[in-house]
Amino acid sequence: MNENEHVVVIGASSGMGLALAERLLSQGSATSIVGRNAERLATAKKQLTESVSESDTDLLRTHAADIANEDDVRALFTATGPVDHVVVTAADAAGAYQPIRDFDLKPARALVDTKLFGAILTAKHAAIRPGGSLTFVSGIAAYRPLPGGSIVAAANGALASLTAALALELAPVRVNTVSPGWVDTPIWDAIAGEAKHDRLAAMAARLPVGRVGAPQDIADALLLMMRNPFVTGTVLHVDGGHRLV
Ligand SMILES: NC(=O)c1ccc[n+]([C@@H]2O[C@H](COP(=O)([O-])OP(=O)(O)OC[C@H]3O[C@@H](n4cnc5c(N)ncnc54)[C@H](OP(=O)(O)O)[C@@H]3O)[C@@H](O)[C@H]2O)c1
Repeated sequence: MNENEHVVVIGASSGMGLALAERLLSQGSATSIVGRNAERLATAKKQLTESVSESDTDLLRTHAADIANEDDVRALFTATGPVDHVVVTAADAAGAYQPIRDFDLKPARALVDTKLFGAILTAKHAAIRPGGSLTFVSGIAAYRPLPGGSIVAAANGALASLTAALALELAPVRVNTVSPGWVDTPIWDAIAGEAKHDRLAAMAARLPVGRVGAPQDIADALLLMMRNPFVTGTVLHVDGGHRLV
């Protein structure tokens, strides 16, 4: 269906990025999945191979790169050459939630280096064909901040301004952001540990839609931003109504 299209998904060995890769492969798009850890990428590749048809599997490439490292980002896009769409879901959020009085710069920098500077390095090095798109993933933490979540709120909020600025600077390439609410992915193991299930269940009960998000909900929103040629400079909230409660 999307023959000759090449999409790079950075942060695709898990969660939303992995769900997006599955959608892309089943639509016939050549898809490069990127993450830091080669073993996790190999596991993701195996999972994708099992869930899409054999011919679609040939469209899949893996590339290990740390989005916070400029040499890695440069090498990634040298290897891919010009591409049609790039999506960035990568974030190192482990340890980012912390009360301001106990603030530790190290985990805060890891989040900002991935989420904000990673997005900027991607914008710098990706050669995206005209008519293509660059899509970031921010998050509800910017719009419904929690105590202890100041750096998470700030990093996600910054992506909205970055999106607007880059939509002008990179045009005709379109630049957008999807802002998810709470979505059941492995990131919650790092954020909440054993409390993951209870915290997600409590949020599901609060939300107008009565459930937390699935990675596929966000993958579909990312596809929308990628495919609609009239959308740029936009933050799309896909949060089950979280901003209302
Ligand atoms: N899940 C939620 O409830 C939620 C809510 C709001 C916003 N978000 C945002 O949504 C995005 C995706 O989250 P998710 O829930 O899908 O997370 P996830 O399941 O933990 O997946 C994160 C992916 O990013 C990769 N990654 C992390 N750091 C990286 C780096 N420095 N360079 C390259 N790849 C890196 C990870 O692989 P490696 O570790 O192997 O590198 C993994 O493939 C994140 O930006 C997150 O902040 C999530």
